[in-house]
Amino acid sequence: METGVVIVAAGSGKRMGAERNKLWLPLGGEPILTRTVRLFTSHPEIGEIVLVVSAQDHEEVLKWKRQEKLKLTVVLGGAERQDSVRNGLAALSSDCSYVLVHDAARPFVTREQISEMIRQVRRDRASIMAVPVKDTIKVVGADGVVQSTPARESLWAVQTPQAFLVSLLREAHEAALQAGKTGTDDAMLVEWLGHTVSVVRGSYENIKITTPDDLWFGEEILRRRKGEGS
Ligand code: CTP
Ligand code: MG
Repeated sequence: METGVVIVAAGSGKRMGAERNKLWLPLGGEPILTRTVRLFTSHPEIGEIVLVVSAQDHEEVLKWKRQEKLKLTVVLGGAERQDSVRNGLAALSSDCSYVLVHDAARPFVTREQISEMIRQVRRDRASIMAVPVKDTIKVVGADGVVQSTPARESLWAVQTPQAFLVSLLREAHEAALQAGKTGTDDAMLVEWLGHTVSVVRGSYENIKITTPDDLWFGEEILRRRKGEGS
C-alpha cells in the first residue's frame, strides 16, 4: 500500500523567458527543482519518486541527482504535460498503490498538505488540491464579449498535488490516449471515466512558478516562512 509521487519537470518554461528550463532558476539560493524534490525525498510517507524530465535536461539532471545523492527514478517526458505524466506513471513500481502527481514548478506545498493528500486518496481514490478563486471569473467569447458569469462560490483554482489510486489514473490516461483527448489536469481524465474526485483545500501560497514575478513572490514566501521559523 505504498504511495509514490510522479514529479513532472519536463517543460521548457517558455513563459518565464529564461535561457533554459525555469526549474534550474534559484529560489532562496537553490534551484526550484531541488526544493520541490526535497519535499518528497524527506517525506516519511512517500515510498518512491519518479522525476520526469526533458531530453534537453536529462544529462544535467543525472549529474544533479548524483551530486545531491537523491534516490529517484528519472524518466523522459513528452510534448505535453499529459504525456509526461503518462511516462512517469509507467515507471512507477508495482509496490505503489497510490500516486501523487506534482508539478516541479510548485515548491511551496507543505509536508502537512502532502500528508493530507495521502489521507484523502486512501479514502476517495481521486483527490485534488485547490483553493476558492478570489476574482470573479467570466466566460468570454472569441469576439471579446462576456457570455456569462459563473457563481464564484462554486469556482476553485486547481493546484497540485493531485492524488489517485494508481490503477485508476493509469486507466484514465490510457482512455484519454485512445480517444485522443487532452485534459488540462489529471483529474479531468479521471472525471471523463465518470469517477468522483474530492477536493482538499490548499493554500494560496502553493503557487506555480510560471512568470518572472512568481520568483519575486516566491522569495517573499520563503522570507516570511523563515521568519516564522518553519
Ligand atoms: N511539464 C512537463 N512536460 C511538459 C510540459 C510541462 O513535465 N511537456 C511540467 C513542467 O515542467 C512543470 C509542470 O509540468 O513543472 C507545470 O507546467 P508549466 O508550469 O506550464 O511549465 P512549463 O510548461 O515548463 O512552462 P510554459 O508553459 O511557460 O512553457
Ligand atoms: Mg506549460
